Amino acid sequence: MDKLVIEGGKPLSGSIVIQGAKNAALPILAASMLVEGIVTIDQVPKLLDIDVMLNILRELGCRAEHEDETVTLDTSSLHSSHIPEALMRQMRSSIFLMGPLLARFGEVTIYQPGGCAIGERKIDLHLSGLRAMGAQIDEEDSRIVCYAKRLKGAEIHLDLPSVGATENIMMAAVLAEGLTTISNAAREPEIQDLQHFLNSMGAKIYGAGTDTITIEGVEKLTPCRYQVIPDRIVTGTVMVAAAATRGQVTLLNTCPSHLTSLIHVLRRTGVQITVDGDIIKVGTASRPKAVDRIVTSPYPAFPTDLQSQVMVLLALADGVSVMKETIFEGRFKHVDELSRMGADIRVDLNSAFIRGVSRLYGATVEATDLRAGAALVIAGLAAQGKTIVEQVHHIDRGYDRIETMLGRLGAKITRYSPVPNNQIVP
Ligand code: UD1
Repeated sequence: MDKLVIEGGKPLSGSIVIQGAKNAALPILAASMLVEGIVTIDQVPKLLDIDVMLNILRELGCRAEHEDETVTLDTSSLHSSHIPEALMRQMRSSIFLMGPLLARFGEVTIYQPGGCAIGERKIDLHLSGLRAMGAQIDEEDSRIVCYAKRLKGAEIHLDLPSVGATENIMMAAVLAEGLTTISNAAREPEIQDLQHFLNSMGAKIYGAGTDTITIEGVEKLTPCRYQVIPDRIVTGTVMVAAAATRGQVTLLNTCPSHLTSLIHVLRRTGVQITVDGDIIKVGTASRPKAVDRIVTSPYPAFPTDLQSQVMVLLALADGVSVMKETIFEGRFKHVDELSRMGADIRVDLNSAFIRGVSRLYGATVEATDLRAGAALVIAGLAAQGKTIVEQVHHIDRGYDRIETMLGRLGAKITRYSPVPNNQIVP
């Protein structure tokens, strides 16, 4: 497994262009299966999760190429709606294919994506939404088989605003007969991006970004070319890295309005942030101030996907901060690793009490999941001495070569990959 070796203590400086959003690209790639023909998607980052999604699409008969940041899909040769279990287990987001494949083929076979490092991650809302639209769903062990000659519009209320369930139901409803409404829908920017993409192909979806989404079923879609939005979590990660290293960084190709809650928190710590169109400048030279209470909640509140990164900044702050995680039950795995680096953090149920220290120290730590891994990289950049981050494949799921990205800002960070004779080479 790859490792990152970081020489810490150097403020980040310079400018950087932010990659396209993984969490927008994944459902958009799945939604492309609703149409027959050639679909071109721009600003798709080169990531492990995107590779897995493209491999699944190829397995189903779709032709897929990923050159630079552009994905070209030819969906006319798609012949299967059976997602092999091994591929399904590689990535939870393969669940996004359930709605589109059911709508296109009238049947789909998937497997329970299972839990993951950050929590149980159920799919009951995805299934109940499709059932409400007339799908017959048979579950046998981990295999789930859904049938519906043509789905029918329905009024669907989500017990909680699940991002994935909102997207899956939206995609399934596009070709359904009649009107579907989703109430208590998730409001994340990636859901708006999915609406824009589907509407560019002729769908009639209104209301994404609010808690009620209406989908008027259409008979057919037409292929299009589309560019996904910039990644707000990668943007946020770099902003926090700039703040934690007390650097000065300019981020280009961002959507500042998608980061209002983070900008608010960072300003409370004393970090200077200026916004000009799609450019964000972050800078600070002083020790951050503690923040009494940050609670992760669905958008537009503070995102769970930035909780671990901001915790690193607060671990270095003057005073005691509290962070409460309300989305996933297992999302404090980075705390033990940060403690090895000298952080003083106590976890009680779903709250972390962070007593800031003046310095973190380099150590060997393990990325346990994607965002926890990003947090450890930030900690390594801010720490005194050398940090080794292991299990980097988790980070590769969501950051396009994080060492190259941060290296452009002056970070001293090198990747080492094992070779067959057990030597380690850069
Ligand atoms: C998406 C994001 C992920 C982010 C999360 C929350 C993608 C590819 N991933 O994940 O990065 O951390 O939103 O912002 O977009 N739940 C149920 N039943 C369901 C579905 C969800 O109980 O059927 C629960 C989950 O267990 C979790 C909560 O709802 O506790 C939120 O999950 P959800 O919004 O669905 O997250 P994802 O779509 O999986």
